[in-house]
Amino acid sequence: MSTVTVVDHPLVQHKLALMRDERTTSKDFRNLLDEIALLMGYEVTRHLPTKRVEVKTPMTTGTFDMLADDLFTIVPILRAGIGMQAGLLELMPFAHIGTIGLYREEHADGSIEIVEYYFKMPKDVDKSRVFIVDPMLATGGSAVAAISSLKRRGCKNIIFMCLVAAPEGIKVVQEEHPDVDIFTAAIDDHLDKHSYIIPGLGDAGDRIFGTR
Ligand code: PRP
Ligand code: URA
Repeated sequence: MSTVTVVDHPLVQHKLALMRDERTTSKDFRNLLDEIALLMGYEVTRHLPTKRVEVKTPMTTGTFDMLADDLFTIVPILRAGIGMQAGLLELMPFAHIGTIGLYREEHADGSIEIVEYYFKMPKDVDKSRVFIVDPMLATGGSAVAAISSLKRRGCKNIIFMCLVAAPEGIKVVQEEHPDVDIFTAAIDDHLDKHSYIIPGLGDAGDRIFGTR
């Protein structure tokens, strides 16, 4: 079974509480998301493998730790995942970017259908460590669809990173993809009848792009 890590650093929790506030403007919401993504990225990358490398300093030669490889792909789920891309790229400027476009369509009976409208990956993504980013893990439908598409493309090493997760979504992702570890800043209470996270922060895409 995969692991679920809640990044409970006080700065992350403080910034997330500001993002939840309905009075927070799109500009501030975007900035806070960017900052949290960077802070969470530190935790998400904590166990990356390293190798010993000989380095000549101005004083002597020593052997030090460096990343064992730098084949990383950040995959934002459009639209809202775009808001977490820059923070991670700051930590891993050598990473490639893949993009998956998904939206949730709510049917009259209240069921949610996930529609994939875009999928573009770097050519070596199958050999890469993949970090899927999306602020919200609600029913888990989008995360499961994104992970399934990446696995069909040959990806084996996938991490899912979000800001707010619902217990329902975590359960679905763990059942469907038990090999994919999840990192989140919060596990909230439940989903409402429209599959929005409660207490949550509302519609992340609308708040990032100001489209409400
Ligand atoms: C939001 C969010 C996730 C998805 C989560 O996207 O960014 O992708 O919902 O919900 P789920 O776990 O129930 O699938 P949305 O479909 O609203 O599209 P948008 O980013 O284009 O606004
Ligand atoms: N997508 C969002 O943006 N917010 C939610 O609460 C659920 C899905």
